[in-house]
Amino acid sequence: DTSKVDIIKKHISSYPDFPKKGIIFRDLFSILREPSVFALLKEILINRVKSNFPNVECIAALDSRGFLLGPLIALDLQLPFVPIRKRGKLPGKVISEEYSLEYGKDVFEIQQESITQGEKVLLVDDLLATGGSLRASCKLIEKCEAVVVGCLVVIEIQALKGAEKVDAPLHSIIKY
Ligand code: PRP
Ligand code: MG
Repeated sequence: DTSKVDIIKKHISSYPDFPKKGIIFRDLFSILREPSVFALLKEILINRVKSNFPNVECIAALDSRGFLLGPLIALDLQLPFVPIRKRGKLPGKVISEEYSLEYGKDVFEIQQESITQGEKVLLVDDLLATGGSLRASCKLIEKCEAVVVGCLVVIEIQALKGAEKVDAPLHSIIKY
């Protein structure tokens, strides 16, 4: 699927010095603007899950750009979808974890009832930068006494070494 990945890569717009000087913003939304390219990305994601994480039982994605991808995978594989949201957005009993971002600090939360003990969870997001977001998300799943079988991202910014911060098996489709 190398040629398919090349097409996806061509459709990721890059914005230097956004949102801060020195950061190149890699924009997933430029893929979503083109239905045929978005469909290709969906196909790649589903195939990668089937080949790399065949025993996954639940798809969890990160607020907010992860929500564009996680449900596509969950629906296709007929698995439950669970959101990991930024602070104060989820009702009921929540489990929280603070994290540092490439630019800023925040808290992620998950609904305690949304995951069962021992469940095999795949974390999905658009992009791995410093790894703070996925690291905190892994901790949340562990606090739920469930198991992170892996993390799947479309884009990995290798210079920021986020992969070193993520304890679970990491799979990225495009590396910069
Ligand atoms: C971006 C991106 C990842 C995260 C990666 O999200 O969508 O979720 O940063 O950064 P890290 O690896 O350094 O933690 P952001 O928090 O900007 O919010 P958004 O998804 O709501 O746009
Ligand atoms: Mg995000």
